[in-house]
Amino acid sequence: MDQTGALDALLHEERVFRPLPQMVIEANLNPHELEQAQEQANRDFLSYWEDAAHELDWFKKWDQVLDDSNAPHYRWFPGARCNIVYNALDRHIETANKNKLALIWEGEPGDQRKYTYYELYREVNRFANALRSLGVAKGDRVVLYMPLLPETTIAMLAVAKIGAVHSMIYGGFSAKVLRERINDAKAKLVVTADGFYRNGRVVNLKQIVDEALLGACAECVETCVVVHRANVDAEMHEPRDLWYEDLVRRERPSSPTEVMDADDPLFLLYSSGTTGKPKGIVHSHAGYMVGINRTLNWVFDLKPTDIFWCTADTGWITGHSYVIYGPLVAGTTTVMYEGHPLYPQADRLWDVVARYGVTILYTSPTLIRMLMRFGTQYPRQKDLSTLRLLGSVGEPINPEAWVWLHKHIGGAKCPIMDTWWQTETGMFMISPLPISPLKPGSVNKALPGVEADVVDREGNPVPAGKGGFLVIKKPWPAMMSGIDNDPERYENTYWKKIPGMYFAGDVARKDEDGYIWIQGRADDVLNIAGHRIGTAEVESALVAHRFVNEAAVIGIPDTIKGEVAKAFVILTDGWEAEYDTSEDLVSALKNHVRRELGPVAVLKSLEFRTTLPKTRSGKIMRRILKAEELGEDVGDTSTLEDLD
Ligand code: WTA
Repeated sequence: MDQTGALDALLHEERVFRPLPQMVIEANLNPHELEQAQEQANRDFLSYWEDAAHELDWFKKWDQVLDDSNAPHYRWFPGARCNIVYNALDRHIETANKNKLALIWEGEPGDQRKYTYYELYREVNRFANALRSLGVAKGDRVVLYMPLLPETTIAMLAVAKIGAVHSMIYGGFSAKVLRERINDAKAKLVVTADGFYRNGRVVNLKQIVDEALLGACAECVETCVVVHRANVDAEMHEPRDLWYEDLVRRERPSSPTEVMDADDPLFLLYSSGTTGKPKGIVHSHAGYMVGINRTLNWVFDLKPTDIFWCTADTGWITGHSYVIYGPLVAGTTTVMYEGHPLYPQADRLWDVVARYGVTILYTSPTLIRMLMRFGTQYPRQKDLSTLRLLGSVGEPINPEAWVWLHKHIGGAKCPIMDTWWQTETGMFMISPLPISPLKPGSVNKALPGVEADVVDREGNPVPAGKGGFLVIKKPWPAMMSGIDNDPERYENTYWKKIPGMYFAGDVARKDEDGYIWIQGRADDVLNIAGHRIGTAEVESALVAHRFVNEAAVIGIPDTIKGEVAKAFVILTDGWEAEYDTSEDLVSALKNHVRRELGPVAVLKSLEFRTTLPKTRSGKIMRRILKAEELGEDVGDTSTLEDLD
């Protein structure tokens, strides 16, 4: 089914899947408690979040739950002192969790490593000491350009433990992007690996870092720490480059945890927007830990015996909140897999589930659609009976994929938690709970303590069934604390488009039962396989090519990836002298984009034009190109575009 077909199915989906009685009996939160929580949150949402905060450990509690005196620059739990790593590790060492498995890691070639909370704690302490001895201090920025390794978890936690700020750059981004972000954050240190395994090949990560560091700002990176992983010939530049293993070997396994103010920054994560370069989204210790702990515990109904596997890459927010921080703060066992989900064949996911007895599998619609193509032969060969809950994130899931996942992976007994949220929100915002009646393709309703709505341009709720903008009407604890060094952009992007409300950038509709259905982005952000890429980023990569005069990029529907990028390009003269055919030029341009941005930004197709549709002020009207491409009436999308 193509995407238009999928959207059609979304619009007509009427099935309701009710939770099995056993699920309702066993859920941590029963319907009565949920009703009470909802009631409390509606009446006094601050007391609701304050209760959630009491579930964590603090060096000093807050003076106030929320300071909104400088809205929309909200401050959660002002006056409190804490550290998320104290909650993710230190506190577990004092409890029965001490010898519980914190992390199960599997490499693509099949190697495995397991860490108990105590072991992970000791490793984090070693690296925290190493970082300190390298001169990294509270507030310094550390870039992590890492594949999925145990050391990725260790590095993240060690950086946070000493009060420094990590900025993780997804491994699918190019040297150029990495360099820009190192410079932007003025990072002092980079942690990377020599390489990693991906689909049977070794990716030479260190080489990319070397290239990035060549042009990095002079006052930035003093040290580059390299984890041994794939035995590639990494060129070590002395004195800058150090092997991780050499560093930690001599460090002691205990290390003090820095006492942080509630809104001291924890990490930076870049996210694509409508215009210009990606924004450095900042999250801080207190609110973030409260938000992810509560939402993970409730949405995935965590029990002491769970084995939780979120398949996301740690380079994205899902990996931050629900591969690393959330599961560890909540004291569960988290699974991490290094490699490609189809390697060595399309049963790898089911194999990992069966071998470790995974109980909760949280993944993406793109991955499900990829695996569906192989039919049910692979899942049928594996014992998936340990699964009790499933989850989906990152893009709308089409009912067909939902039903396949439910039936063939969940054995018709595992509810699917379709969680809507964003880099900016930090935590799940709209999602079912295990006891909710589910409609395939709908993200259900806002969680307690979150107020979501679908509104028109003026902020008025739209009638049931009608499309509008998704907004959040009250602040929530895991919300970003801002955009790095750009408070104005934070206000303009999120709080001024529809005054007084958080503008998420998505188009959605609500049905008669109040269920929310996400229809996609309202702005010029592509969602390729759940990865956010700005059309502006791809366009500026294209115009950096000497034969490209102007470029416009749009997203077009794709059966597997949800959306792919298509470019319309106006060429400069003279390209014929260099390329034999226009096909050669097309592939050169595609490679060029890949080199500029990295493999994450794949251009599916490219079309040459002599003009591009523009507004009077010269802004390219991508919606017209898109409507033409899809054979739609241009007028249909005009109201939605006005907010850009
Ligand atoms: C989209 C990922 C439909 C949405 C956690 C949002 C979704 C963007 C869902 C954020 C979902 C996320 N159903 N669409 N369950 N979850 N999205 O920042 O367009 O990488 O605005 O965060 O992904 O992407 P981000």
